[in-house]
Amino acid sequence: MSPSPSPSRPWADLVADAVARVAAARDAAELRRLDVELLGRQSAMVAARAALASLPPEERRVAGRALNEARAAVEEALVARRRALEDEERSARLEAERMDLTEVRPTRRRGHLHLVTQARDRLEDVFVGMGYVVADGPEAETDWYNFEALNFPAGHPARNMYDTLYLELGPPESTLLRTHTSPVQVRVMEATTPPIYAVMPGRCYRQDTADASHLPNFHQIEGLVVDRGISFADLAGTLDAFTQAYFGAGIRSRLRPSYFPFTEPSAEFDITCVFCKGDGCRSCGRTGWLELGGCGMVHPNVFRAVGYDPEEWTGFAFGFGIDRMTAQRHGIDDLRELVTNDVRFLRQF
Ligand code: DAH
Repeated sequence: MSPSPSPSRPWADLVADAVARVAAARDAAELRRLDVELLGRQSAMVAARAALASLPPEERRVAGRALNEARAAVEEALVARRRALEDEERSARLEAERMDLTEVRPTRRRGHLHLVTQARDRLEDVFVGMGYVVADGPEAETDWYNFEALNFPAGHPARNMYDTLYLELGPPESTLLRTHTSPVQVRVMEATTPPIYAVMPGRCYRQDTADASHLPNFHQIEGLVVDRGISFADLAGTLDAFTQAYFGAGIRSRLRPSYFPFTEPSAEFDITCVFCKGDGCRSCGRTGWLELGGCGMVHPNVFRAVGYDPEEWTGFAFGFGIDRMTAQRHGIDDLRELVTNDVRFLRQF
């Protein structure tokens, strides 16, 4: 007959033995076997629980509490060992996956700038060649710069054209990720006095699902000219000069009436389809033209917002998507290629 357990700590020996075995378990499989053996249906603890029913109430309470404590101690040991084994396994895996970053493999292939960065640099070069300066501004903007100062008052329906990502900063909807580079126009005007000839490239954000022709995070280049006596003809001539310098002779530009709150009149800017050279194909929807961006004459309210006298100053502005323009220039039919970082794609440029 086995020695009867001490009535005050009837499970002490069994628990001590169980805890020691659990602590010595070498892997998850052994731990699972111990779990079944110590706490499973065939275990002494489960049998003891069943036996409680036949005890008189007072004894049942004491024995029940002792049993619960014992079970809790064994469970705790199992959890602790499981965590320790997971940690060990994770460390071992990290160790095994460690890369030797000092290893040098001989190759003649050098890295280079990303296609979109190259495009941005080239665009800047073309405009710098026409006498423009390059400026930039923050990607996290206030509602005032992104909308209000650009003549979108609160509740203006044109705000719905921009699927804005707001930041949890300050009052609700007061801070956002800029939806276009146009707020930099306002910053440049605030910081300088006319005449202004500036381009402002940068990242923009919209709450969009990526597809062949949309990216939630994309690039634009903004242009702003403020001087005396600037006319729509200056805008059209500048865009045509830019088109030929960037896309090459044979590619022309055209303007179509459009609407933006910050320009009046406003236009959409198209170029000859680079794929079919204007004959009409699938890429241009058989029109012979590709849409590049928006433009127009700076609205007097925008001048007023930055303290310029609209009677004295005139100007034009434009904004294009760099990613889309890059895709058109290189015949890339899915914008997502630009962000998936497949080196087989990137190496081609
Ligand atoms: N910010 C406009 C957009 O993202 C594009 C644009 C249109 C910019 C007209 C301009 C402009 O500077 O004059 O939809």
